[in-house]
Amino acid sequence: MKRNISKELPKLAFAQGPLSTIKTGALVVGVFSNGDDLSQEVQRLDTALKGKIKRLIASGDFKGKLKETLTIYPEGGMADAGPERIILAGLGKREDFNPDTIRGVSAAAAKAAKSIGVKKIALPFDLASGCKIEGADHARVSGEVFIGAALGIYDYTAIKGKKKLLKIIKDDHGEEEKKRIDEITVVNYRPGGANGSEIEEGATAGMIISDSIYLARDLINAPPNLMTPRLLARTAKEVAFRYQLICDVFKLDDIKKMKMGAFLSVARGAKEPPALITIEYVPKEKGAKNVALVGKGITFDSGGLSLKTANGMSNMKTDMSGAAVVLTTVMAAARLKLKTGVVGILPATENMPGSNATKPGDVVTAMDETTIEILNTDAEGRLILADAITYAKKYEPTAVIDIATLTGAAIVALGRKVAALYSTDDELLERLKAASASTGEKLWPMPLYKHYEEQLKSDIADIKNVGGKEAGCITAATFLKHFADNDHPWAHIDIAGTARAEKEYDWVTKGGTGFGVMLLLRFLKMMGEE
Ligand code: BES
Ligand code: ZN
Ligand code: ZN
Repeated sequence: MKRNISKELPKLAFAQGPLSTIKTGALVVGVFSNGDDLSQEVQRLDTALKGKIKRLIASGDFKGKLKETLTIYPEGGMADAGPERIILAGLGKREDFNPDTIRGVSAAAAKAAKSIGVKKIALPFDLASGCKIEGADHARVSGEVFIGAALGIYDYTAIKGKKKLLKIIKDDHGEEEKKRIDEITVVNYRPGGANGSEIEEGATAGMIISDSIYLARDLINAPPNLMTPRLLARTAKEVAFRYQLICDVFKLDDIKKMKMGAFLSVARGAKEPPALITIEYVPKEKGAKNVALVGKGITFDSGGLSLKTANGMSNMKTDMSGAAVVLTTVMAAARLKLKTGVVGILPATENMPGSNATKPGDVVTAMDETTIEILNTDAEGRLILADAITYAKKYEPTAVIDIATLTGAAIVALGRKVAALYSTDDELLERLKAASASTGEKLWPMPLYKHYEEQLKSDIADIKNVGGKEAGCITAATFLKHFADNDHPWAHIDIAGTARAEKEYDWVTKGGTGFGVMLLLRFLKMMGEE
């Protein structure tokens, strides 16, 4: 296996044997809130601890509430031969236990370890719950355990304490000594059992997924003076080189030749040149399905001449989250050797109010020859996506899915923990809903009734780019629908709310979240298994 992209991602290690013998800085042990209902393995550990865990439960000092943690210190022989610390981690009610809660608990435990400066932690592959989860095998559970711990302690440090701001894919990290977990060990405490290889495969997949999400978060969190379309393109090239993917970067002249008038209308206000980036993973199997993922890559959204307020643009470096998620999803798909092919299409540009910028009232011609009256230059995402969706059809994909921080209205409708889902194809919609349910990246379906099209009627062109203040996220999706067609099932995911977190929760850290990577990977995996 090739080394990871992110130097910050803790290393994955494996260990075998009873929990009391695992040598590590902190061993995480899951405990349900159902009284002293301890799994066999935790009972064994408790015996080695002379009943300490049971006493803590009996006294009410530790209740096993979901994500509760308590650090305890083994004494005597066990302290020498086994873990230096044990972090009891509340699993909540046994009947509510699922892959989502596993990830949340393992994130809480890793954060507790990090906060006291522990460098190496170990987690039993199922948090020692000894409990079967429907639809989740040992591989899946081990993967979630690693993902939760790794994502929960993510920190954007690429440029902290650096005089020279440059590398996004990092060479070295902050000189200062900081609290950092550098190794996560996944423990197989039943080495005699037949599941050893499953656990290792699952945790390795979890590590690959985490590495992708670390990169996605780094790209989103990078300041917009560094994370330009050029740097995004360079990153795509580096990823492609490392994992033998097909990658093309089309520059301004190429984009002009392709007559992407909608995309160009956004790019023309900026000094920074735009780029259309494609990155493709083709599986070995002949006749594999092929999905096109389109990611909005506005590296900074000032609104253009329809300028945003100072507050309104303060986090608009996040507006390339769709592109970051698509790039890193393709990377993980290749490393996981998924059976479904996937091409990522990333239209990347700044949206700036330069003297050459598009003016409200301008009419432009998209790649598919639709004429668009641009009445608000801040509704730019749909313009670059329109041409990218048209371009995606050239790959004859089984499905086209775009993912974009598209509208403030989506945040108003669904808040910051749920993304809006749209599709013209019921099967595709159901598949995405299933992938969402199984990863905890929440989606909620929104309607695409025909009557919304009336809001986009223009007096002088085929269509206008804004549909008024009512149902703003739906009219944005309806605009995109115009560029999709019946031969290529299309779906749209509006991540305006979920792409960035104002404060951390579970495995989601403050700042760029990488929302969508897990969801899209599961979707692709499910497609390949049909
Ligand atoms: N990038 C924004 C959407 C956005 C807003 C994302 C807040 C995350 C947080 C998008 O380009 C935009 O500005 N949309 C406008 C559309 C409007 C002018 C029709 C919006 O939502 O206000
Ligand atoms: Zn905008
Ligand atoms: Zn935008």
